Amino acid sequence: MTPYKLLLLPGDGIGPEVMAEVAQIIGWVNDRGLASIETETDLVGGCAYDAHGEAISDLTMAKALQADAVMLGAVGGPKWDGVAYDQRPEAGLLRLRKDLQLFANLRPAICYPALADASSLKRDRVDGLDIMIVRELTGGVYFGEPKEITDLGHGQKRAVDTQVYETYEIERIAAVAFELARKRRNLVHSADKRNVMKTGVLWHEVVTRLHKERYADVTLQHILADNCAMQLMRQPKQFDVIVTDNLFGDMLSDEAAMATGSLGMLPSASLGAADATGRRRALYEPVHGSAPDIAGLGIANPIATIASFAMCLRYSFELGDTADRIEAAIASVLDQGYRTADIMQEGCQKLGTDAMGEAIVTALDRPAA
Ligand code: IPM
Ligand code: MG
Repeated sequence: MTPYKLLLLPGDGIGPEVMAEVAQIIGWVNDRGLASIETETDLVGGCAYDAHGEAISDLTMAKALQADAVMLGAVGGPKWDGVAYDQRPEAGLLRLRKDLQLFANLRPAICYPALADASSLKRDRVDGLDIMIVRELTGGVYFGEPKEITDLGHGQKRAVDTQVYETYEIERIAAVAFELARKRRNLVHSADKRNVMKTGVLWHEVVTRLHKERYADVTLQHILADNCAMQLMRQPKQFDVIVTDNLFGDMLSDEAAMATGSLGMLPSASLGAADATGRRRALYEPVHGSAPDIAGLGIANPIATIASFAMCLRYSFELGDTADRIEAAIASVLDQGYRTADIMQEGCQKLGTDAMGEAIVTALDRPAA
């Protein structure tokens, strides 16, 4: 069996707690002989800043470039509020995305039936919800130059961020969305702000042309990003795949996540282009952040990170069956009434981070009912 090299970057806040549960699952996969996964653990974010004075070191970047995949917990927290902008914890994550060229961020928003009542929306709106948000991750206003604050004197300053997209960036992310839609319900919504932004005009033009040339079999709907935000609250089940830029994707994915009941449930995969052998660079992380308010209490929900590991098995290690099994184990513990604090409901049993991880490992060994 070829061993896979997986770099674990637990990061800050609840990151290390939830990543410890992934380590249990990796142990289970290795023990059952399903794969041979070799892990190495390193620093990113505030903890890396504390150790090396930068949010990710060149050495850690080199390891990330060599690994078959990277798993990240979370970065950031109030402790680093005063740190210089370029070295803030988030800079470590952004450098990973940029240097590994992970342009395609897949954020599934799935509502587990057992959690439909935990959503802020009514059960009938979210029961069975299954959306895939495809967010462009290496361009747009996150990385556009200039990005600066200039002192104008007289107590006035001027801040600029630059939203910029080129044709190839839009083409490659739209292609990912169309390919995914073909394996799902064959529907893509492309969200932009072409009514006010030039990047939106180009986005619309490129997606329309690509659709006509290569993906005419997929249903394409254009939607303004603000309307998309509204429709996600009104009737989320109308969506299958949503493709959008970096900033809109950041916001729409948080919104879609909340519709499912808890941000603590949602995984993500960030993928690069396939090389000649079909291999893609990849980073997997939960959508939630470092939750400093509950860090160290042992109550964080590890499900999003465990589900991110399942995505890693599916997209990086060709272990789709094992990924299915992990996702089924998550659904099964929820069906049995086990909950972490963030998704606690009346009549359910509240578990801490470790106990939830253990419950999932136990469910993995029980054949599906
Ligand atoms: C996310 C986060 C990041 C982002 C932050 C931590 C830089 O919100 O992954 O959605 O804005 O992309
Ligand atoms: Mg975000």
